[in-house]
Amino acid sequence: MKNLNSKKILLIICGGIAAYKSLEIIRLLKKSGSKVKTILTNNGKNFITPLSVTSLSQEKVYTDLFNSDNESEMDHISLSRWADLILIAPATANTISKISYGLSDDLASTVVFASDKKIFIAPAMNVRMWENQSNKDNLKKLIDFGHEIIGPEIGEMACGEYGKGKMSEPEVIINHINNYFKNIENNKRFKALVTAGPTHEYIDPVRFISNKSSGKQGYEIARSLNENGFDTTLISGPTNLSSIKGVNLIKVKSADEMLEATLNSLPTDVAILSSAVADFKIKNKEKEKIKKNSISELSLEKNPDILKHLSNHNSLRPKLVVGFAAETSSIKNNSLKKLSEKNCDWIIANDVSKDDIGFESDFNKVSIFYKNNSEENLPKMKKSNVANEIVNRIISQLN
Ligand code: CTP
Repeated sequence: MKNLNSKKILLIICGGIAAYKSLEIIRLLKKSGSKVKTILTNNGKNFITPLSVTSLSQEKVYTDLFNSDNESEMDHISLSRWADLILIAPATANTISKISYGLSDDLASTVVFASDKKIFIAPAMNVRMWENQSNKDNLKKLIDFGHEIIGPEIGEMACGEYGKGKMSEPEVIINHINNYFKNIENNKRFKALVTAGPTHEYIDPVRFISNKSSGKQGYEIARSLNENGFDTTLISGPTNLSSIKGVNLIKVKSADEMLEATLNSLPTDVAILSSAVADFKIKNKEKEKIKKNSISELSLEKNPDILKHLSNHNSLRPKLVVGFAAETSSIKNNSLKKLSEKNCDWIIANDVSKDDIGFESDFNKVSIFYKNNSEENLPKMKKSNVANEIVNRIISQLN
């Protein structure tokens, strides 16, 4: 487990019989060279003692949200800042529910609430609780938040019932976390470029032609690439989105500026062009604001096709060039046409004729068309999850 060496893991132990296995998790993490800090919830204390946790982790065990001895430490903030990763094992139905609703009434839930770190959750509960609709809805929310669920397994339970709900074995959990760090380490050698958002093609200093693109899908792809270890540059047209920690953001307005920034960012291993580039620009852009009586029509000229340019670059073509296709009809035919005309490797098509997916929405439903004539149709999901699916495929392809 060499990828766990020197990693800082914050382990949250909740109140379930599987808590005894958390001691083995601490032991294995320590053996792999990780630094482990632990939060034991009040219910967790009914199953294992703080002393056994500290003995194994060789660190103080944290239990209370407010600590009158040392309040200036602000444990809920400092613990989250300290960690490379947070692992909740066992995660009870109650804790899962609290996190899904954003409650923060104890140290464990407050740390999660205050954290921007990767969170792994290993649930453990009775099979009826696992299958309860509330629990299913809560888990779906956690997945949408970007948290990763490990297990649970099917087996005999402490309560005597048989079914799904047993916490995964410590080795399985540790393996999962090790693979997470291994993947990041592997991908650090890859450079990625993403374009996102619309372009603004100015008519005069105050007016422009543009489109409805929000940039959300491209920003999510850049976030996911960055989280997976890629050295990521995001070239963004004008959007209302915030920059992403760790991603090199280059802001542009027009298609010409986007092309220039794209070429300046080469070479990269992969390029994902998700921006909705305006197809036309104004032929003679006015320096002064145009008076309404002084103009009767606009002259347009074609913008450069950035995707085509990049896909046909003689010396600096990225190994993998991924284009998008925003379509309102004949999605497959139009996408296949773009795939061959632009000479990219994949086209990710989305239907922009519906309000609940595509432009501006937080959801998307995409199909991926590959150069070898195969295709995949993904179900409707959050743009963050679409991004993760795309990035998983990029990682497989580059490796
Ligand atoms: N694209 C680009 N430069 C352009 C136009 C599009 O790089 N001037 C890229 C987009 O970022 C996307 C793909 O080409 O990856 C397809 O974009 P889309 O708007 O769907 O298609 P267009 O090529 O503009 O064709 P049409 O508008 O006729 O569908």
